[in-house]
Amino acid sequence: MLLAIESSCDETAVAIITREEGQPRLLASLISSQIDIHRAYGGVVPEVASRNHALNLPPLVAQALEQAGIKLEQIEAFAATRGPGLASSLLVGFSYAKALSTATGKPFCGVNHMEGHLLSPFLSRDENSPAKNQKTTTEIPPHLSLIVSGGHTLLIDVQSHGKYKLLGRTRDDAAGEAFDKVGRLLDLPYPGGPEIEKAAHHGNPEAYQFPRVFLKEAHHDFSFSGLKTAVRYTLEKIPDPTLQLADLSASFQEAICDVLVRKTLRAAQQSQHNLIALSGGVACNKALQQAFQNACQKENHQLLVAPPSLTTDNAAMIAFAGLLAHENKQHDSLQLSIEPSLPLAT
Ligand code: KG4
Ligand code: ZN
Repeated sequence: MLLAIESSCDETAVAIITREEGQPRLLASLISSQIDIHRAYGGVVPEVASRNHALNLPPLVAQALEQAGIKLEQIEAFAATRGPGLASSLLVGFSYAKALSTATGKPFCGVNHMEGHLLSPFLSRDENSPAKNQKTTTEIPPHLSLIVSGGHTLLIDVQSHGKYKLLGRTRDDAAGEAFDKVGRLLDLPYPGGPEIEKAAHHGNPEAYQFPRVFLKEAHHDFSFSGLKTAVRYTLEKIPDPTLQLADLSASFQEAICDVLVRKTLRAAQQSQHNLIALSGGVACNKALQQAFQNACQKENHQLLVAPPSLTTDNAAMIAFAGLLAHENKQHDSLQLSIEPSLPLAT
């Protein structure tokens, strides 16, 4: 049994995982969201986030143990997010997990938050999943991973667990960051992603033509800052943007989805991966999922999307990454420090 803590940004999360009959099983996965607190500021305030992590963690760990029906002494290893993330937020969860490890004499694993996202589609698999025939999930199949979160947009060539090659990333704003910034331009509450998805529901995705950057370039990098600027210029020309909210949201969402889908499929073909896995907060966007489903069906690719509970930040994915590290005896020294810019692959 392994207990994991996630505190890289504004969500405090604790999960307990075990393995039964070869399959990982979550015994608890709790999130104490700070979104309502930060909404007042229109974004995450690091000092406020770290203070709330410090307040939330002790009761959340106690609640997770209670939900799992176990005592702290029964935990065999601890894991926490080491990076990337906000330094002051990472420090709270990382230090807390190291303290629990010291107090109990059990091993400790520092986890890369992006590896948590990357592995998340393989934690919960149903009968329809392309990965269902694997004997255990420690065998992460070769695939192309697209991680779309608030801070990162990464295309990773995954050979197996731990063997990752970076194919592409954003050169400016992350996909989620673009959603959040455009959400602010449209006067929508933070975070903008889910709000834009809601507003886009009855909109016409072809009402406005927003740019699709790097579609014809040979590399696999992304750029979304021009898209945000294009929305701003368009807004300046509209007398009352609130009347066009649905069309603006739908057109912006379509532009992001279009770029993500087309560039990911091209990278999958070039890297000869049949399986494509989607993760990160933006992956819970239904329009993005639908666009990927349509394209994958047309081009005979298999698609695996992390379930909604595992797309936005959570500790279950950190627990899963920690469990795989623990089973491979990849433990870390308690001297290890947080790393706010920790890379996943080069
Ligand atoms: O993975 P995540 O929870 O945190 C990071 O590691 O960054 O991702 C958060 C991001 C935010 O930018 C949020 O706006 C975006 O994911 N997001 C969405 C949706 N839900 C969350 N973006 C588009 N559509 C959504 N439904
Ligand atoms: Zn994340």
